[in-house]
Amino acid sequence: MADRQETSLRFLEGTIISRGLLGESVRIVTVVGARPQFIKAAPVSRAVRQRHEEVLVHTGQHYDANLSDVFFDALDLPRPDYNLGVGSGSHAWQTGEMMKGLERVLDQEKPDFVLVYGDTNSTLAGALVASKVPLPVGHVEAGLRAYNRVYPEEINRIIVDDVSALLLCPTPTAVDNLRREGITRGVHLVGDVMYDVALANREAAKARDIGRRLNLRDGEYLLVTLHRPSNVEDRATLGRIVEALLRSGREVVFPVHPRTRKSLRAFGLWDSLQAKATLIEPVDYLDFTALLMSAAKVVTDSGGVQKEAYFFGVPCVTLREETEWMETVSGGWNLLAGTKTEDILNALDRPRPSGETSNAFGDGRAAEKIAHLLDTFA
Ligand code: UD1
Ligand code: UDP
Repeated sequence: MADRQETSLRFLEGTIISRGLLGESVRIVTVVGARPQFIKAAPVSRAVRQRHEEVLVHTGQHYDANLSDVFFDALDLPRPDYNLGVGSGSHAWQTGEMMKGLERVLDQEKPDFVLVYGDTNSTLAGALVASKVPLPVGHVEAGLRAYNRVYPEEINRIIVDDVSALLLCPTPTAVDNLRREGITRGVHLVGDVMYDVALANREAAKARDIGRRLNLRDGEYLLVTLHRPSNVEDRATLGRIVEALLRSGREVVFPVHPRTRKSLRAFGLWDSLQAKATLIEPVDYLDFTALLMSAAKVVTDSGGVQKEAYFFGVPCVTLREETEWMETVSGGWNLLAGTKTEDILNALDRPRPSGETSNAFGDGRAAEKIAHLLDTFA
């Protein structure tokens, strides 16, 4: 594996290293498409644009304003130079359409480098198209593994890491995961860009009054997010989760992802949940952070939300059997409860951890480090 990586990367690195050493700016195409990617790209884009040229491409995977536009506004992410408008569909269809559009963009823009984020189909499409041009790929959030291939994201991560020249790892665990797969070249521990975003926006989030508008009592409610197909597209599973929320005896606020909204309605679970919980549309990053910071606990199957709960010292109950963010589990801050009603209720009843959270996610300067690596790519 190491040799294969070595051979395919040597050629690609040559161009960039020489440009970096000459002090020239590197022309970068950044590919984003889904909610968490707009958040992750915001600080990196800002840092990268101080020294390099960036062309921002939105695949159109997320297109509702509250899953897309609101993040560009709240986080000052520049408007995309291209929106491929791909939209929703099966994995193969969606990824294929993105690839066709991205190939045209790369052909037109002739970048030196392609930057992708996380583990969505937009990440996969960006990495595959670039690696066949061939162009070097930088993967922000490289090295994550949940070690369960039932998640489409796990397949995306493995493939994207395998074709990436610059593997930008958020945590030491991610570096170790790659080492175990024989990937060591181009691997850099930079910290977590979501931690950068959390620190930079904490005060602005505190100024939001969404809790008051929703009549929530600070420190009393559960903040819920759900969108994994394995949780929300199976009636029995979603039914068990809803039952736990109803029986928790807690106030619940739940910004509902469109995939989940459809399922709750289709499975006849919406009305009973709405009778007891505050179901709202997805909110922007600052409102979400405001809700999170004042929650008693977070209940989620999101990758990013598990981490944000940890950043802000809010106990999290994760409705999955495993997580790619094992750091959050230490000290009892994140309980992997799975999806059985009783297990969720038990986890919700556990007392708040007494210890501190660790600083496993860096120092809030991951974006700067990424921009610096692009200067030299050495
Ligand atoms: C995608 C990512 C997931 C990521 C999540 C972030 C993949 C395979 N999945 O999941 O890794 O955690 O984004 O939120 O890339 N829909 C709308 N409006 C939109 C977008 C989607 O109504 O703007 C609905 C459509 O019915 C669509 C469904 O949501 O079929 C799922 O959207 P999709 O982007 O395919 O997957 P997510 O569950 O959002
Ligand atoms: N988020 C948000 N509004 C919401 C729900 C989530 O801004 O209504 C943010 C949250 O703060 C986190 C990110 O969306 O930064 C997580 O995205 P998501 O759960 O969709 O994807 P994942 O992290 O699981 O890939």
